[in-house]
Amino acid sequence: MSHTDSSRALPVPLVVLVSGSGSTLQALIDAATDPTYGVRIVAVGADRDGIEGLARADRAGIPTFVCRVSDHPDRAAWDRALTCAVATHEPALVIGAGFMKILGPAFLARFGGRIINTHPALLPSFPGAHGVRDALTHGVKVTGATCHFVDAGVDTGPIIDQRVVRVDPDDTEATLHERIKVVERAMLVDCVGTLARAGYQLDGRQVRLGA
Ligand code: GRF
Repeated sequence: MSHTDSSRALPVPLVVLVSGSGSTLQALIDAATDPTYGVRIVAVGADRDGIEGLARADRAGIPTFVCRVSDHPDRAAWDRALTCAVATHEPALVIGAGFMKILGPAFLARFGGRIINTHPALLPSFPGAHGVRDALTHGVKVTGATCHFVDAGVDTGPIIDQRVVRVDPDDTEATLHERIKVVERAMLVDCVGTLARAGYQLDGRQVRLGA
């Protein structure tokens, strides 16, 4: 993957994709209230209705849309529909903030090199939907969160930043995940703001800030 994204007129328009409580989205909403952060969330999209992430966007006055897999004949049709729904808002960057679907080839063709995701583990360890549980089961002493660009794999794209969290002996998946989410939210806010304001270059697996 190679991509040059020179810094652009501020604020930089973003679409954020969510599937759940949206605390990660909320951190971006809060950061974007500061005009010096240089980002405007132009829409929030979800793969399901009735989630707190959509309610958070509504409360912030941000347009929302829902694109459900079950509303389409197959995943490829859903992928195309999601791509169109996001493209309507003409984002410079797309942020996965707890979005629990794999983005397909249509989406990657349209937004490849401009899609950022967070994962609650230290990639390449423990990719997939159960990163926290898998790390705990494996018995690691440290885990954490990764901010990365999305490519055609599952949590395999170029890494932007990582933050470490120690595992406590009495941690459950829930307690560990909540502690990870604290550092994950701060990391995503830092990464998105820097990438948006300074631009970046993607050269293979290397991410260089500042275009
Ligand atoms: C985050 O830890 C994200 O990495 C994972 O699910 C969590 C989303 O939390 N996929 P929230 O919905 O933003 O509160």
